[in-house]
Amino acid sequence: MQNSELSQTYKEYLLILKECSPYDFSEYSDNSIDRRIQKIMHDYQLSMHELIHKTRTDAEFVEQVVEAITVNTTELFRDPQVWNQLRQKVLPVLKNHPKINIWHAGCSTGQEVYSLIILLDYLNLLDKADIYATDISKKAIEHAKRGTYRYSFNYEKYLSNFNGVFEQSDTPDIKKYFSINEAKDTLSVKPEFLGKVKYITHDLVKEGLPFYNKFDLIFCRNVLIYFNGALQTKIVQRFHDNLFPGGSMVLGSHETLNGFFKTKFAKNGPVYARTNTFHFKY
Ligand SMILES: C[S@@+](CC[C@H](N)C(=O)[O-])C[C@H]1O[C@@H](n2cnc3c(N)ncnc32)[C@H](O)[C@@H]1O
Repeated sequence: MQNSELSQTYKEYLLILKECSPYDFSEYSDNSIDRRIQKIMHDYQLSMHELIHKTRTDAEFVEQVVEAITVNTTELFRDPQVWNQLRQKVLPVLKNHPKINIWHAGCSTGQEVYSLIILLDYLNLLDKADIYATDISKKAIEHAKRGTYRYSFNYEKYLSNFNGVFEQSDTPDIKKYFSINEAKDTLSVKPEFLGKVKYITHDLVKEGLPFYNKFDLIFCRNVLIYFNGALQTKIVQRFHDNLFPGGSMVLGSHETLNGFFKTKFAKNGPVYARTNTFHFKY
């Protein structure tokens, strides 16, 4: 089969998935979807016909398909220079706010959320922060709630990122935030910080939001890259509507906005501040 024919078959599969489950991946970018469906068929040894049948009849399998389609890669203080910018320029502006509302959209297993918590604590802003974190993956949300990661696999990288965010003379002790158990190979967020986050399973593709708040900060890093242009625009518009004027949206280092948003956000690296433009209706 030609590649374009294969893509067409996968598109048809996504329409069936949409029809018989709550999940709609039809506006994800072809590149990532094609590879992932091929992998599911290979891992479960299914023909397309069998894949469709299992999708229609086995709700548990559908959840495994969702896990296989979504990419959960993340780390503590991923791209430290961005967190450095947040520490120095973005978060201090919130010092005079009586409350700070934050939403991590596509939070994966929580490392991004705990990175922010560490910065808020460092800047004495944590007590007035309300933090929501959402992801389509139930498994990722459960992992994020536990806040326990493999020590041997992650610690060196996390510590190096952590040290890259602070001034050498003023770096806090990472052990204030994590307990380490080498025998059990665990690196665990301390309970007082775990308890600061409200985690909710939520699909960004769907219209409704699981909260009524407007936000000072919305993180959506390394999520939009998996969506096609139309879906990216729809979701960024929703973030715009849910940010206070002057509030900021933080995207991944390799993500950019299309021209439509030029006047709606002021860009500074991957941080986009919502401008104060109001649209009057006559
Ligand atoms: C590559 S991870 C990024 C994690 C984190 N934001 C970071 O940058 O380190 C992408 C996350 O987006 C989530 N995701 C994908 N599609 C989604 C959707 N429709 N709604 C909510 N989350 C979604 C995935 O489950 C995954 O956890």
